[in-house]
Amino acid sequence: MKIESDFLVIGSGIGGLSCALHLAKQGNVSLVTKKEKADSNTNYAQGGIAAVLSETDTFEQHIKDTLEAGAGLCHRDAVEKIVREGPQHIHHLEEIGVNFTKKKTGVYDLAREGGHKAYRIVHVKDHTGRDLEKALLNAVKAESRIKVYENHIAIDLITEHHIFEPQPRDQASLHCWGAYVLDSKAEVVVRFLAKATILSTGGCGQVYLHTTNPDIASGDGIAMSYRAGARIANMEFMQFHPTTLYHPDANSFLISEAVRGYGARLLTRSGEEFMQGYHPMASLAPRDVVARAIDNELKKRGDSCVYLDISFKDPESVRSRFPNIYENCLKYKIDITKEPIPVVPAAHYSCGGVRTGLDSATSISGLLACGEVACTGVHGANRLASNSLLEAVVFAREAATKAVELLRTNVQIPNIPPWDDTGTFNSEEWVLISHDKKEIQTLMSDYVGIVRSNLRLERALSRMRLIGQEIENFYKRTKVTEELVELRNLATIAQLIISCALLRKESRGLHFTTDYQKPNDDKFLKDTSIQKSAI
Ligand code: SIN
Repeated sequence: MKIESDFLVIGSGIGGLSCALHLAKQGNVSLVTKKEKADSNTNYAQGGIAAVLSETDTFEQHIKDTLEAGAGLCHRDAVEKIVREGPQHIHHLEEIGVNFTKKKTGVYDLAREGGHKAYRIVHVKDHTGRDLEKALLNAVKAESRIKVYENHIAIDLITEHHIFEPQPRDQASLHCWGAYVLDSKAEVVVRFLAKATILSTGGCGQVYLHTTNPDIASGDGIAMSYRAGARIANMEFMQFHPTTLYHPDANSFLISEAVRGYGARLLTRSGEEFMQGYHPMASLAPRDVVARAIDNELKKRGDSCVYLDISFKDPESVRSRFPNIYENCLKYKIDITKEPIPVVPAAHYSCGGVRTGLDSATSISGLLACGEVACTGVHGANRLASNSLLEAVVFAREAATKAVELLRTNVQIPNIPPWDDTGTFNSEEWVLISHDKKEIQTLMSDYVGIVRSNLRLERALSRMRLIGQEIENFYKRTKVTEELVELRNLATIAQLIISCALLRKESRGLHFTTDYQKPNDDKFLKDTSIQKSAI
């Protein structure tokens, strides 16, 4: 089966939906999403969107805070772009129906989060992502030129690799003409062909045992792009959110940094504040500092969690500002207005991804990327809180502009063969998939977490190469399923994170190694870049 459209968008988070809305003005759009359309990292975002919207804040300060958090690796031009364009995108989101929380006086109720020196986070209480997703989905529903395909997971990007008689080419002249996509319900692989393909598949938190990300976050876009030969950057910078609920059944439920912005204090089990000893901004220090401090306190004291205390604030205002967190904690019998919340860090956001330029273009012609899947240069070695939704909307618009430009160049799609699964069989061995997934997650959490070392990284890489090879062999023999596609992608992601971490022989931002505990500007004040050899 073959579906052809002007544009193919893969992923239905804020980046994919925003981009599709821009594209629909110029052509028809196929939007594929691997579960239900609202299932995305965006949906889980609590904090909000950073933007300069108050008279006491400035673009220069937001740029400075972002650059400082990014520990020398942010691309200034990309940072300036998102910061300066921020307010217009917030107003655009309001136009499509997002009701950001306002004070009684009618001004935005701006919050503060770690690393921000001003109040600048617009939010919808503590469920910003959910409301954004809802408004964008409503707008997409009203667009007749966007066709959404739910329960469709992309397996691989279609490039020169798939043409009947491949010509020898170098990486600089690869093209993308769409993707092979599994319709999980019908169990068939469809060729989705397009003049431009936009990846907005989100992050890869599922490569770790404990993550704030939903099950869908298996790094599909990054893994597919790597296999296709695209340039990938900075995968060593996995951000661990300092505060997720510590409870066996809570699935690393996020306790937004906005809670600390609201005055909450981090405490040890015996009730002592400890962040003052680590950073002048104490509990509101950038995330890498806070997550590492918590990790250190836990190891030093042999405790399983630290505590976040907001119980000294007026209960009614806490309930009204954080209804989602209040209700969720109550489910686990924790009343946040009366007692401190047990918290631990968990994998949260990938600052690395598919290398893109200011126009959202990747190193493969016809392939664009926006949102967490992309490494735009905004986040450097550590993302400043609440900059990601902003980055997604800004670069979604750029991706759409570039895709329309491609459409006008009259791209010719060559003859693409149908999916070939001859010689594969329906496996009965699905236990291999669940086992391998656990093994990858455990290995990554134990060896490639907040604190790393050469020994752990080298051991992790040799184990992962073996697991990756076994998965690839199984994949080649087996009829493809959603779980197998995700497992294969997780194996690629794990190897990318470890390989990038091994290349960075210093500590910077989110990458901390006991073997090189300081930054080394002479050698490493640059992005880590990794690329598979061309066909
Ligand atoms: C949070 O609410 O703490 C998460 C926001 C973000 O990751 O930027």
